[in-house]
Amino acid sequence: MSVETKSPAEVAVMAEAGKLLAEVHAELAKAVVVGATTADLDAVAAAAIKARKAKPAFVGYRGYPATLCVSVNDEVVHGIPSKKRVLADGDIVGLDLGLVWKGFYADSAVTHPVGKASPETLRLVETTRKALEAGLAQACVGHRIGDIGEAVQTVAEKAGYSVVREFVGHGIGRSLHEDPPVPNYGRRGTGLRLSAGMVLAIEPMVNAGGPDVKVLSDGWTAVTADGALSAHFEHTVAVTEDGPRVLTVL
Ligand code: MF3
Ligand code: CO
Repeated sequence: MSVETKSPAEVAVMAEAGKLLAEVHAELAKAVVVGATTADLDAVAAAAIKARKAKPAFVGYRGYPATLCVSVNDEVVHGIPSKKRVLADGDIVGLDLGLVWKGFYADSAVTHPVGKASPETLRLVETTRKALEAGLAQACVGHRIGDIGEAVQTVAEKAGYSVVREFVGHGIGRSLHEDPPVPNYGRRGTGLRLSAGMVLAIEPMVNAGGPDVKVLSDGWTAVTADGALSAHFEHTVAVTEDGPRVLTVL
């Protein structure tokens, strides 16, 4: 494993990238309304990235055909935007987006309720947000990758949910996906030791039912095997001497 640590100056540029990405997510949040199509959201993301003179990170990545990944309800990640997919009241929609700024990547995801979602649906969304927060809090010098995984997994499983194993978080920097992989499960005190300058994308995918997923025939869209709901949150975080620094925020 070769982990590219970043200098403070590089982390500063990644923080610029992260702030721009957070601004785009804020625009997207306003566009999540009943009746919008997932292609509408992709168009908002593409225009907002362009307006900031940044570049979308996902389009063309391994042939991915859009700017934004839009994953509705039982879709876990990597949903492809479509003019035919219309958001309905009570849905949840995961928006996963990356951009490139001055040669550095930022990556983050959020799951929004559409209109009025049920209390049980909102509990899944809030639990997944808290699982991410627990993982971010472990991104400290001297901690280990397994500390992040255990923290995420514990929050999800204590709430009666399960974490997806097939997709994991990742290092990020001049490439979208760098070492180390960052699983959303694991055991405290195991795995790579974290040091200052590591930058990680932590991205729990939490299923209301079982952990298994399958990929649809479009080659991208991952859905829960049992059809239950799934939520996804992601931030890019730098490990610093002063503790975790979340970069994908306003
Ligand atoms: N946040 C996801 C990831 O880090 C999104 C990648 S989607 C792709 O893997 F389109 F770029 F493949
Ligand atoms: Co990611």
